[in-house]
Amino acid sequence: MSKITFIGGGNMASCIFKGIIKTRPQKDEIIVSGPHLEKLEHFKQCGATITSDNVAATRASDVIFLGVKPQMLTTVLTELVAAGIDFKNKLTVSMAAGYMCNSIAKIIGSPCIIRIMPNTPSKLGLGVVGIYYAPETSAEDRALCKELLKGLGSIIETTDEEGINVIGCLGGSSPAFMYRFLEALIAETVARGFAERDARQMIQQMALGTASMCIANPDTPISQMREAVTSKGGTTIEGLKMMTEYHFEEMMSAVVKASMDRTREFERMFS
Ligand SMILES: NC(=O)c1ccc[n+]([C@@H]2O[C@H](COP(=O)([O-])OP(=O)(O)OC[C@H]3O[C@@H](n4cnc5c(N)ncnc54)[C@H](OP(=O)(O)O)[C@@H]3O)[C@@H](O)[C@H]2O)c1
Repeated sequence: MSKITFIGGGNMASCIFKGIIKTRPQKDEIIVSGPHLEKLEHFKQCGATITSDNVAATRASDVIFLGVKPQMLTTVLTELVAAGIDFKNKLTVSMAAGYMCNSIAKIIGSPCIIRIMPNTPSKLGLGVVGIYYAPETSAEDRALCKELLKGLGSIIETTDEEGINVIGCLGGSSPAFMYRFLEALIAETVARGFAERDARQMIQQMALGTASMCIANPDTPISQMREAVTSKGGTTIEGLKMMTEYHFEEMMSAVVKASMDRTREFERMFS
């Protein structure tokens, strides 16, 4: 059993909380702290203690999940330290994009930090969660963190802190890129006479089926699965030719680069 506090009870904290209570029912004492108690009611209904006192909440626990936006993190941590919180005997788990372990350690005076990068499908247990352990974290801390996050989906550990940035963009931001792709296909379906509802049903089922084909055939190259849909002289190949003509891969490369560049800006801002 662990005593766990979430500082900030927003979207991501809620995903992680749900994952923890699903896989470790009744096992942990969980506190969620945030400025608006009414927004935290749903945590209370699931057995957590809620408060707007970050200091008391942090003092009471051994594992602290930092669930505030990166722009808020410096202020929140500085206030906790000023109030006398000693982080040395705590495990600090940060989900803040672009906020490096060193930058957190400089404020809290402890290097015992784990960075995690979940994505929104974690809500359904179908997420991708990146984990980077600062070298000073113990084997027990690492095992506990992994155990707490296992209900969120696939865990990808990276031994290099830069890896968490890559997971942040390609695992964390990519659902938005994918939604955009799906939105475009739905719009094309609607433009050809289908009701929005039916178009959405078709396109989302296509996406689920396609991802499921990849998962069901891990040894088959994805290019081979694509070729299996592409007969010579057929209809699909004409569409694929357009993707090439419109530089699809270059566009995706620019998309990822822009997202990574923003991460770098955050790193500079928060260092
Ligand atoms: N969303 C994603 O896909 C995603 C993916 C990976 C990582 N992350 C990271 O997860 C973190 C949270 O993002 P999110 O999407 O969950 O944002 P969010 O829903 O806006 O959650 C932030 C929470 O922080 C609370 N908060 C604000 N000031 C606070 C304070 N002084 N003390 C305690 N709590 C405070 C807010 O409360 P009020 O609403 O009551 O003001 C809100 O509940 C960020 O660092 C982000 O980089 C997000």
